[in-house]
Amino acid sequence: MAMIQRPITSNSYFVQIKKPKFYNLNIIIPRRKFNLLKPKRHNNNYSYTSFTVVSSSSSLHKEEDVQTLVRQFNPQIPIEEALTPPSSWYTDPSFYSLELQHVFYRGWQAVGYTEQIKGAHQYFTGRLGNVEYVVCRDDGGKLRAFHNVCRHHASLLASGSGEKSCFVCPYHGWTYGLDGALLKATRISGIKNFKVHEMGLVPLRVAIWGPFVLLNFEEGNLPQPESQSNNVEDEWLGSSSEILSARIIDSSLSFLCRHEYTIECNWKVFCDNYLDGGYHVPYAHKGLASGLKLESYSSTVYEKVSIQKCDGEARESEPDFDRLGSKALYAFVYPNFMINRYGPWLDTNLVVPLGPRKCQVIFDYFLDSSLKDDNDFIERSLKDSEKVQVEDIVLCEAVQRGIESPAYCCGRYAPTVEKPMHHFHCLLYENLSN
Ligand code: FES
Ligand SMILES: [Fe+2]
Repeated sequence: MAMIQRPITSNSYFVQIKKPKFYNLNIIIPRRKFNLLKPKRHNNNYSYTSFTVVSSSSSLHKEEDVQTLVRQFNPQIPIEEALTPPSSWYTDPSFYSLELQHVFYRGWQAVGYTEQIKGAHQYFTGRLGNVEYVVCRDDGGKLRAFHNVCRHHASLLASGSGEKSCFVCPYHGWTYGLDGALLKATRISGIKNFKVHEMGLVPLRVAIWGPFVLLNFEEGNLPQPESQSNNVEDEWLGSSSEILSARIIDSSLSFLCRHEYTIECNWKVFCDNYLDGGYHVPYAHKGLASGLKLESYSSTVYEKVSIQKCDGEARESEPDFDRLGSKALYAFVYPNFMINRYGPWLDTNLVVPLGPRKCQVIFDYFLDSSLKDDNDFIERSLKDSEKVQVEDIVLCEAVQRGIESPAYCCGRYAPTVEKPMHHFHCLLYENLSN
């Protein structure tokens, strides 16, 4: 009989499978996977009937080691005296794994926008860390999300985005409804202990706030009815939700286009760059700086959100072209989502970690519908925006290489401007040490 004594880390069980007549096998099962599989124990003669859980001292040491890295940043030290997190936070593979578990697999994560799943049968897929997901609307238009993994031999099921009436696995043809139910398992005659209703796609919790789709990968978080409930709003945005609702939930905006960039830097380098309170703008984005009144720049820090604001200024050189409008708002929603509202534009930047020194940034552009046919304005705006992105990519990749150099360990904060960045690092510390 299986006995679970204790996990070896917050994320893993060390499992010794004892099959006396055959072999003993020691494996480490991530807690997330273990929990997903546990219910099958009663349904499958071959699963988990003969193992005991024992401790693994080497894994315990690993967890202690990575906690030592976490503690190399001290959030108690005021910004005026504080050192920034050490370079290991931006380079170490075990630190990166801890981030996936503690930062990205907890709480709400922005993954897309509502226009991607406007009607029944629309879907989109994505990946965060090791989690492959699909978000869709079922036959009745109900919002759903699942792990995008076939229950037969784990093939990824859906790809890209679009419209489908069911998901057919490209490997052996098992077919699932958009409500996740297994509709057809091909060529399984003779199979025993197989209950179709237990072989549906593994669900995820999904919600909508304003124009954004959110997922929650936490264990034990069973899917709930689609909602725009205060709960989601409070958990995701806290007390910043009022100001963000007022500026961002705007029915005159509609999706225009998506630009994606793969950047050779840790995901936090991109976030740090966003969170320096406009510090780098006059040096690195001279074109952008000419359209902003940088002396008006201000930052406000909320629970898990920081908002930077700046007044716009019409450029003398282009009096008939005003991309930024009179007020720009840059909101950072911890851990990796940026919402930028300026003039007739809203754009979002989703920073997807791809490894310790690589990330992908997905830019989605939304525009006031009244301008959707103004090709000249759109082209000039996107060209200006692209210029800023390219400038930022060069900065971020240079920072990553500097971080990896033996010359660098920790940096300092410019206290009057870099509060949002310090706040971000303190939130990371809190997540990673708990
Ligand atoms: S892996 Fe999907 S049907 Fe075989
Ligand atoms: Fe920048």
